[in-house]
Amino acid sequence: MRRLDLFPTPLWVWNLPKHEQYSDSIMEWVKENCDEEGRWQSQTNIQTLEEFEPLCSHLLKLCRKVSKQLGHDLKKYGELKISAGWVNRTTVHTYAQESHTHPNNVLSAIYYVKTPVGMGKTVFTDPRPAAGVIVPRPERNNALNGMKQVFNSNEGMLVVFPSFLPHRVSPGVEDGERITVSFNITFENSDLMALPLWGE
Ligand SMILES: [Fe+2]
Repeated sequence: MRRLDLFPTPLWVWNLPKHEQYSDSIMEWVKENCDEEGRWQSQTNIQTLEEFEPLCSHLLKLCRKVSKQLGHDLKKYGELKISAGWVNRTTVHTYAQESHTHPNNVLSAIYYVKTPVGMGKTVFTDPRPAAGVIVPRPERNNALNGMKQVFNSNEGMLVVFPSFLPHRVSPGVEDGERITVSFNITFENSDLMALPLWGE
């Protein structure tokens, strides 16, 4: 027997070596800029700031490998670029973020700076609406029958995923300081993507 996984939804995960080189300066920056307790989101252009340059260039390097696997035509659409980047800091465990995608981007990424066990987690949900029409209760959950996947992150982890993949943050059970950095990535010539696929 041979199993074909058609239309898979890949996630690429790294544990960045010596991640303190990124997280130390990020935490420093957060201390200086965060002006709200509970739940705070930074400006959305941190990719333009010096403090985030090492992380951003590392991210783009890794995304180029992803892009190669996805068969992107970078000659046509241009190099990958970060279209937005922002920091999330949450200190109340009751906070939950609704499910969302990041339209008009190709890839999205989350870098985990601080992830206390009692705080919420990233949850990815099945992007295929039709898969929820009939859902027999499985004997055991696995990657083929799950409708959602709780992502077990640790500090220094980076995950890259297709921007169409719905994700949310679940509420946690105990207060702590959770810090993540989110990114959206697209092509330099992303305006070309909006053109019809036919008629070339
Ligand atoms: Fe998101």
